[in-house]
Amino acid sequence: EQINKGKYEHYMQKEIHEQPESLTTTMRGRLIRGGSCKSKSVLLGGLKDHLKIIRRSRRIVFIGCGTSYNAALAARPILEELSGIPVAMEIASDLLDRQGPIYREDTTVFVSQSGETADTLRALEYALENGALCVGITNTVGSAIARNTHCGVHINAGCEIGVASTKAYTSQIVVMAMLALAIGDDTISSQARREAIIDGLFDLPSKVKEVLKLDQEMNDLAKLLIAEQSLLVFGRGYNYATALEGALKVKEVALMHSEGILAGEMKHGPLALVDENLPIVVVATRDACFSKQQSVIQQLHARKGRLIVMCTKGDAASVCVSGSCRIIEVPQVEDCLQPLLAYHLTVLRGHNVDQPRNLAKSYTSK
Ligand code: G6P
Repeated sequence: EQINKGKYEHYMQKEIHEQPESLTTTMRGRLIRGGSCKSKSVLLGGLKDHLKIIRRSRRIVFIGCGTSYNAALAARPILEELSGIPVAMEIASDLLDRQGPIYREDTTVFVSQSGETADTLRALEYALENGALCVGITNTVGSAIARNTHCGVHINAGCEIGVASTKAYTSQIVVMAMLALAIGDDTISSQARREAIIDGLFDLPSKVKEVLKLDQEMNDLAKLLIAEQSLLVFGRGYNYATALEGALKVKEVALMHSEGILAGEMKHGPLALVDENLPIVVVATRDACFSKQQSVIQQLHARKGRLIVMCTKGDAASVCVSGSCRIIEVPQVEDCLQPLLAYHLTVLRGHNVDQPRNLAKSYTSK
């Protein structure tokens, strides 16, 4: 398949801007509004025969590398909430290094854009040997992970050429949110919550379109940061993954040191770094952690931190009382879908965006 960059300078840029369409494709035919007994639900054809077993699992274990791991981390809270099942996170190489326990009663979920990443594939062999149910979430039909898992969901995000994963990340989160909806589908008490999330998913492509209009603003911000040595990104709750993934993108594409920090851990080390020079991005959108993030901002501000705050539209005055922070506003969406909007951070430093130094799209060997 011949894919060109069209009007874009880089594949990564094109893939970022394709997200309203890629997300629509990911959800196509899977979200159902209307019908006889339930008004709104999710249908994941590749999982329907396994949902009963998944619901009876002792744990759900997400396994992946890099951006795919971060996508799973973003989806973990909603899966825990809707399924009531403990959700464990495993970086594939670390699980293998530790030979960590995997049980027959576990559902292991392998998340991989390429479906070929060597560590994730080896972790899959390990989980199969241990008798766990293995679910694949990949973007590549016929890939090794898609073939060797018991069941799974294709994310259908379309071909991703840029080494740094972008549209696959957002589609992975949507698939895992749909997985949470499907697993929790038999719980009456959470029906209203599930319906609100389904409505949120329907609205998502248009909200993402809105966020992509921030391109110029991001460009201005990138110019401000161009000569910096380092950047911290603070998040918590649903947006802890956003902090890790935002920092990873800055690292791998802009070749700038960057660290994603769980805001709840701020006092246990990171606060020592704060001064008037180091730029800090704080994700503080409206969710259950909002007031805690407000207090984090106040504490960073008290130490003269150079703050860039990403908040929900209309919240500028509540996140930055002094008016001294740089504000980036994103539209309001259901809390668990916020990582999809907050995730849009690019820094221009003149490096090869599509093929960063020393990195490969897919690591198929050690
Ligand atoms: C490489 C890529 C990353 C990707 C990771 C996992 O490091 O550069 O963008 O997140 O592999 O790849 P996978 O195909 O398993 O999602």
